[in-house]
Amino acid sequence: MCGIVGYIGDNNVSEILLKGLDNLKYRGYDSAGIALFNNNQIEIYKSVGKLENLKNKMSKIVSETKDSLFGIGHIRWATHGVANEVNAHPHISSNKDIVVVHNGIIENYKELKENLIEKGYSFASQTDTEVIANLISDEYKYALNLKDAVRNALPKLKGAYAICVMCKNESDKFVVARKHAPLIIGVGNNENIVASDLPAIIAITSDVIYLNDEEIAVIKKDSVEIESVDGSLIPLKIVKISMEVDAVSKMGYKHYMLKEINEQPNIVRNLLNGRISDVNAKIKLDEIKIPLDILRNLSKIQIIACGTSLHAGLVGKYLIEDLASVPVEVEPASEYIYRNNTTDANSLVIAISQSGETADTLTAVRQAREKGAYIVVITNRPDSNITRYSDSILNVNAGIEVSVAATKSYTAQLLMLYLFAIYFAEVKGKSDDRISLIKEELLSIPTKMEEILSDDSNIESVADKLSKFKNFIYIGRGVNLPTAMEGALKLKEVSYINANAYPAGELKHGPIALLDEDVPIVSVLIPGYITYDKIIANCEEAKARNAKLITVTSSEDEKLKNLFDVIVKIPSVSDLLSPLLSVIPFQLFAYHISNFLGKDVDQPRNLAKSVTVE
Ligand code: M6R
Repeated sequence: MCGIVGYIGDNNVSEILLKGLDNLKYRGYDSAGIALFNNNQIEIYKSVGKLENLKNKMSKIVSETKDSLFGIGHIRWATHGVANEVNAHPHISSNKDIVVVHNGIIENYKELKENLIEKGYSFASQTDTEVIANLISDEYKYALNLKDAVRNALPKLKGAYAICVMCKNESDKFVVARKHAPLIIGVGNNENIVASDLPAIIAITSDVIYLNDEEIAVIKKDSVEIESVDGSLIPLKIVKISMEVDAVSKMGYKHYMLKEINEQPNIVRNLLNGRISDVNAKIKLDEIKIPLDILRNLSKIQIIACGTSLHAGLVGKYLIEDLASVPVEVEPASEYIYRNNTTDANSLVIAISQSGETADTLTAVRQAREKGAYIVVITNRPDSNITRYSDSILNVNAGIEVSVAATKSYTAQLLMLYLFAIYFAEVKGKSDDRISLIKEELLSIPTKMEEILSDDSNIESVADKLSKFKNFIYIGRGVNLPTAMEGALKLKEVSYINANAYPAGELKHGPIALLDEDVPIVSVLIPGYITYDKIIANCEEAKARNAKLITVTSSEDEKLKNLFDVIVKIPSVSDLLSPLLSVIPFQLFAYHISNFLGKDVDQPRNLAKSVTVE
């Protein structure tokens, strides 16, 4: 995933573009570039690596660029071609008249490229974006104005795009368009800005327009005009956004990841607010728009997601099957889309995606939609692409998550799945004392989360001691097997230490061969669940192979001290609700190890916040 930004106005263009890119850094970060309309020509500046490299380059030429009229910028996460300056955006046509930044993938770029080469255009990069620049340049020869050249080029592009385009002959505007990739226009006072996401816009204006698929906008200093690809004018629909400028600040924390871990209690508190007012009354989930008789008669639910969202889905399976007694299949979206799955017009598909832009999940939802399934989307971005294909949107409202490693969005997704499972059970007439007790306990979760977070120094010192290990095995059972999987994923992502997760009972069926004093076992141990003693037995088997034992537990059992090398206590909690708490020490553990090892916590190598390629 990449980030794009464009600005036109009287303020310092390059400063605004760089600031905007800074606020989009989480979208990708292997190279960056900007193009400025300056002195009646377009000047392009690019750097490989961190955005700081481009900033340094630009800081040396402030006086040369300060009078630029407008510009476009891009922060890249490589898809076509390695991360180098040639492949970095912006890309210029071989006629040197059209300059483009692009987010998305052009699927037919090879055919288009061959055609354009035959027509005499040349290519310097390996990107699909350079094809867009040459294609628009070719159309410009006939249209003689940028807007029509872009409009004529768009139908030839297959795939996904959000583009900002400048033309060397048009000194008062740039043109933007989108299809299956986000693009937002910020409407200011005698200045306008466009970007892939709100954080790049909020410092300039809170009035925004969400551009729709296959719409083109002409952005001038004092006007915005939108047309559809067929040329009809579209009335401007400006909405006020309430996002604070500090929504993307670290608020004094060393890293976004730590800030976001610490935001979890309040996110959960807000999500519960107004939904459970009386534990004996039915839960409120008005966002579910599926007819109740359809819900009551569902014979199965499918959950599709990727990465951390998939782990949330696995917890959801336990919850829904336990509380509503309806079978749930959970599948990575990347698997679901390439097989003859059983989704049909009677299916309910729950898609979970923090960003709402993950390509595999989007394709899965589109496919399910085509088969007539009911779609519930659980997302942190109600303005994202995925919501276009949904019947019901459950907004987890966790606020912008900047750190690439998902933390607060995970617990918010979990909370939403608890609410959905209870709601669904109640729709199916299953409300009873147990459900009231669960609701009561849910209300206590934010305070218990705060208790864990207040004892962070304990986890920090454990992390320091354990950061020397090169391999970890995480184990869990039941509803905490996904917690173990999420713990292992977090550690891998931010510290680059190998960590694998297994159902604790599977250890003896193979992975036990790996165990010795160099492979610590990390477990979750919640008293009250039938497998509590079994997990202890699994850990004893590991201890007999000299493995170090670490556990996250709510148990008060003194005997555990003899078995485990490290015990991280969490407050007393029922097994069913424990995933909301047990994951927090794992998040902190991964964070502190990464920080201790001096890794790039918020922007780990090779990863992007949302993966917009299949
Ligand atoms: O935005 P999504 O929830 O669809 O993203 C899915 C995964 O790419 C994401 O959860 C990824 O695994 C994160 N880096 C986890 O920390």
